[in-house]
Amino acid sequence: MILPIIMAGGSGTRLWPLSRGNYPKQFLKLHGNNTMLQSTLLRLDGLSHSPAMLICNEEHRFIAAEQIRQLNVKHSGIFLEPVGRNTAPAIALAAFKAIENAQDPLLLVLAADHVIENKDAFQESIIKAKSLAEQGKLVTFGIVGNTPETGYGYIKRGSEVQNGFVVDSFVEKPDLETAMSYVSSGDYYWNSGMFLFKASRYLEELKAFRPDIYKACEKAVQVQNNDMDFIRVDKEAFEACPDESVDYAVMEHTKDAVVVPMDANWNDVGGFSALWEVSEQDADGNAFIGDVKSVDTKNTLIFGEDKLITTVGVENLVIVNTKDAVLVAHKDESQKVKQIVNQLKADD
Ligand code: GDD
Ligand code: MG
Repeated sequence: MILPIIMAGGSGTRLWPLSRGNYPKQFLKLHGNNTMLQSTLLRLDGLSHSPAMLICNEEHRFIAAEQIRQLNVKHSGIFLEPVGRNTAPAIALAAFKAIENAQDPLLLVLAADHVIENKDAFQESIIKAKSLAEQGKLVTFGIVGNTPETGYGYIKRGSEVQNGFVVDSFVEKPDLETAMSYVSSGDYYWNSGMFLFKASRYLEELKAFRPDIYKACEKAVQVQNNDMDFIRVDKEAFEACPDESVDYAVMEHTKDAVVVPMDANWNDVGGFSALWEVSEQDADGNAFIGDVKSVDTKNTLIFGEDKLITTVGVENLVIVNTKDAVLVAHKDESQKVKQIVNQLKADD
C-alpha cells in the first residue's frame, strides 16, 4: 500500500514577505483556490493509498490541522517536529512510525509546496514507479529541465529498467557551471523532490550512510506523545539529530536509486520569478493579485494586501505589499530576497 508522507516543515524564505516564519509558503494560497498543502492532498484523489501522514513543525500545528480539516479528507496523523532538522530526519520519523505495526508500506514522499498542473500525469508516474519500489528500489521522480537551476538535485539517467532508468549519479545542488554542463548534455533530469520507496529500505540506507541520523530518529520515536491528531516525539533526542536533507544523506549515496520521469507541469515555486511563471498573466505578461492599477507596465508580478498599488512605465518587477513589509525587486534578481531575510534575522 502507498502511504503518502507530506513534508511541510520548510521555511520558504525566497518568497518573503509573502512567506513568513510563522506562516510559510506551503500554507499560502499561491496558485488556485487552495493552499499549497491542500493542493498536495487533493492531488492524491483517485490514487489508491492509505490516508496521508503530515510532518511539520510544532509551531504550525494549528494551521496545518485547520487546512486539512477544511478539505474533509482522512489523514493518518500530523507528526510534529520540535525543531526543523531537514528532510532526512523528517522522513525517518515517518518511516519508523509506518513500520511500527509490522507493516512495510511504500512511502510516497511529497513536498507540500509544489505546483503540479497535471494531476493525471503525476499519478501515472507514481503507478509506474510502484513495482520498482516494491522490489526495494528508491525511486525519485525526474523532471525534464532546460535551464541550469542550481537549487535542484540532478539525476543522471543510466540504463532502462522497467518503467524507469537506473540512476547513474545523483548530484544535489551543483554549482552553475556544473548545472550548465548537465543541462546541455541532455542526460540529466531535475530531481522533483518526491520519492517512492519502502519504509524499511529507506531506513536501511539511512542506517548505512548516516547512522547518526538513523540512531537519533530511532531514539526520538521511542517516546511518542499523542494528543488529538498530533504525534510528538522525544524532543531532546530529536534536537540532537544532525540537520540534513534526504538528497545529501541518502539519494547521493544509494546504489539502488531509480528515476521515473514525470511530465506533469511541475514547478517548485522556488522564488518570485517562478511564481510569476505559474500565475495567470494578462496580455502584457503582468500577474496582479489585489487592487492594482498600471500604465505601461510589463512582465511584472504584484501582490497587494490592503492598499491600492499603482505602477507607471516599469517592467520585470516584483512588488509585494503586506501589512508590515514591502518588497520591490527586479524579477531576475528576486532570488536574492533570501539575503534580506538573513539580514533581518541578523538584526533581531
Ligand atoms: N517536516 C519537514 N521538516 N519538512 C521539511 C523540512 C523539515 O525540517 N525541511 C524542508 N521540508 C519540506 C519543505 O516544506 C518542502 O516541502 C520539502 O520538504 C523540500 O524541502 P526544500 O527545503 O524545499 O528543499 P529544496 O527545494 O531546497 O530541494 C529539494 O527539492 C528540489 C525540488 O524542489 C531537493 O529534493 C532537490 O533535489 C530538488 O530538486
Ligand atoms: Mg523546495
